[in-house]
Amino acid sequence: MTRQELKTKKIAVLMGGLSAEREVSLRTGEAVLGALQRRGYRAVAIDAGRDLATRLSTEGVEVAFVALHGRYGEDGTVQGLLELLGIPYTGSGVLASALAMDKVAAKKVLLFHEISTPSFEAYRRGDDLQELLARCRHFPLVVKPAREGSTIGVSIAESLSALREGLGEALKSDDLVLIEDCIRGEEVTVGVLNGRALPIIQVVPKGGFYDFKAKYTAGQTEYLLPAPLEGALYERIQQDAVEACRALGCAGAARVDFMVRGREFFCLEVNTIPGMTETSLLPKAAREAGLTFEELVEQILEGASVGK
Ligand SMILES: Nc1ncnc2c1ncn2[C@@H]1O[C@H](COP(=O)(O)OP(=O)(O)O)[C@@H](O)[C@H]1O
Ligand SMILES: [Mg+2]
Repeated sequence: MTRQELKTKKIAVLMGGLSAEREVSLRTGEAVLGALQRRGYRAVAIDAGRDLATRLSTEGVEVAFVALHGRYGEDGTVQGLLELLGIPYTGSGVLASALAMDKVAAKKVLLFHEISTPSFEAYRRGDDLQELLARCRHFPLVVKPAREGSTIGVSIAESLSALREGLGEALKSDDLVLIEDCIRGEEVTVGVLNGRALPIIQVVPKGGFYDFKAKYTAGQTEYLLPAPLEGALYERIQQDAVEACRALGCAGAARVDFMVRGREFFCLEVNTIPGMTETSLLPKAAREAGLTFEELVEQILEGASVGK
C-alpha cells in the first residue's frame, strides 16, 4: 500500500499481548505508535489479548501494525487471525512467523538451505531423558526453550548435571527444548529490511551473557556499529542473514542473530518482530544506514498486506 492510501486508513498498533515478552512489546508498540502519529497516520493502540478479534471488528481496524513479541503475536497466531479477518498486517505471514518462532523448526529449514547453525538436539517433554543425556557428550551446551525470546529460560550447561537443571528451567517456558553447541566467540545481529541487510551490530554484554537484563537495561551492553569484522566476513554474514530470512519466507523487518568464531559464523535465530523501542538494535542499525526511526516504521507499514 502507498503512504497516501495508508494515511486514509485506521491503523491499529497491536502491542502487549499474552507472552512473557509483554512488557518489551508495550515499549515497542508505544514507540511505533508515536512514530506513526508524528507522521500523520490515524493510529491507535490495541492490547492484543483474548478479545483481539472482537476489538479489531468493533474498532473498525483497516490495517494492523504488529508490534507483538513472542507467543500469540510473533508466532503466526495473530497473523492467522488477521488473514481470516482480511486485515492487511505488517511483517511476516503465518508460516514464516510460526517457523521462525520455533527454533528447532527454523534450524531444520536453515540446514536444508546450507546456512550454518550450531549442531543441536531437541527434547520434548516426556521424551526419554537418559537417551538425550547419552547423546550430549560435548560441553558447553546452550539450553533454550524452542519458542521463547529475550533470552528467557536460556542457560549454558558445562556438565550433565547443569544440562539437567537447564532442561528443567527451559521446560518451565515450553514443552520443546533446544540443546545446541555453545559457540564461544563474538555475538552479532543483522537487521533485514524488505530483503536487504542493514549494517551489522556486535553486542558486547558487560556481564558476559546477553541475557534479559543485558538486553533491556541501559548501559549493560556495549554496541559496536558497524561490527568490526573483516570486510569479506562482514559481507558473508549479511548475505546469510538475507538468505535465512528468504529460507523461512520472512517479510518486512526481521533481525538475525549470529555467533562468530574466527572466520566461522553460526545463525542462532531469526526474529520476525524485532524490538522497536528507540534504543533497540533494529532501529540502531537502520539509523546507521541513514533511516530515521519514523522512516523505518513507515517502510515496515508500507509492506502491510494479506496472503503472504
Ligand atoms: N549456541 C550458542 N552459543 C553461544 N551463545 C548462545 C547460543 N545460543 C544462544 N546464545 C546466547 O543466548 C542468547 C539468546 O539466544 P537466542 O537463540 O538468540 O534466543 P532469544 O533471543 O530468542 O532468547 C543469545 O543472544 C546468545 O547470547
Ligand atoms: Mg536472540
